[in-house]
Amino acid sequence: MAERLVNEVLNNRDGTYEMSLRPLAFSDFTGQAKVKERLEIGVQAARQRGEALDHLLLHGPPGLGKTTLANIISKEMESNLKCTSGPTIEKASDLAGVLTNLEPGDVLFIDEIHRLQKTVEEYLYSAMEDFKLDIIIDQGPNARNIRIDLPRFTLVGATTRSGLLTAPLLSRFPIRERLDYYRADDLKEIVGRSASVLNVEVQDDGAYEIARRSRGTPRIANNLLRRVRDFAQVRRDGRVNGEVADEALAMLDIDQFGLDEMDKRILEAIIAKFSGGPVGIGSLAVAVGEEPDTLEEVYEPYLIMEGYLNRTPQGRVATPLGYQRLGFHETSSNQPDLF
Ligand SMILES: Nc1ncnc2c1ncn2[C@@H]1O[C@H](COP(=O)(O)OP(=O)(O)O)[C@@H](O)[C@H]1O
Ligand SMILES: [Mg+2]
Repeated sequence: MAERLVNEVLNNRDGTYEMSLRPLAFSDFTGQAKVKERLEIGVQAARQRGEALDHLLLHGPPGLGKTTLANIISKEMESNLKCTSGPTIEKASDLAGVLTNLEPGDVLFIDEIHRLQKTVEEYLYSAMEDFKLDIIIDQGPNARNIRIDLPRFTLVGATTRSGLLTAPLLSRFPIRERLDYYRADDLKEIVGRSASVLNVEVQDDGAYEIARRSRGTPRIANNLLRRVRDFAQVRRDGRVNGEVADEALAMLDIDQFGLDEMDKRILEAIIAKFSGGPVGIGSLAVAVGEEPDTLEEVYEPYLIMEGYLNRTPQGRVATPLGYQRLGFHETSSNQPDLF
């Protein structure tokens, strides 16, 4: 088991495609200016002292650059990156396998760290704080407690749900950074960079059209760029301008405001099936055929940020803007109405 885990850690699980679009240095990482500045200072200071960087927790919705930052940090620290994830580490012995294979200064990336088993998590405390691992080997009368010294390493934890982390784990991360949705002009720059990596000709207005309809998320911007590229290649002359991007995005059911099918389905369900809310997350999940966790982690944060939806203690409520987006009038009998 431990061996499988170590192999998985050593082999990068990302496809080469994704890797080529992924920035490898701070200088290529666009947006999140404050987070980037603080991390760059931390990295530089640690390097000057010849120490490992302090443990770091990155949180925020999917696709905003958590894995990318872990990569960049290990590169800039000139250290190795070892990747694993909360659900992969099933037992304390799995964790021990990973930790005892670390070399001094290594960056250990644990994705979805909120999904670590409680029993595993407790072993992490002393590993993070004292760089020691106390484990019990054997069972019954042969059980012994042994203490293993670990090299100084940097744990980079990533989570979409920092609210689910326990207080003891949270408190062991001296650096905690939250990634927020990107502004359209930052995403435009990212689209431009990806376009040159993918060798596709994208004009300014084309890049902006993709950027502003990408839910503030670089991963989505890159995915849409690929789809728009396909469209431009098959239906046009291969070049992407504003008009081509608009047509391609419309074909993909991404509306003028960048809402996708599921966004619209969620708003529609709240308004049409639950009279605008409040509705509990469980009922809403059933109504749209999606997992409650996915609604909470992926869809809601954006809809809330854009002002289409509110979270109240009684449940989710559509805002007047949410009604407007879908062409409903809040006070009418929930019949679609042109505006
Ligand atoms: N700041 C950024 N600048 C450029 N590209 C980015 C940035 N953040 C993310 N990306 C792109 O988006 C993709 C998804 O980012 P990733 O780090 O995997 O997100 P997360 O781990 O938060 O889900 C990456 O492959 C990369 O191509
Ligand atoms: Mg990731």
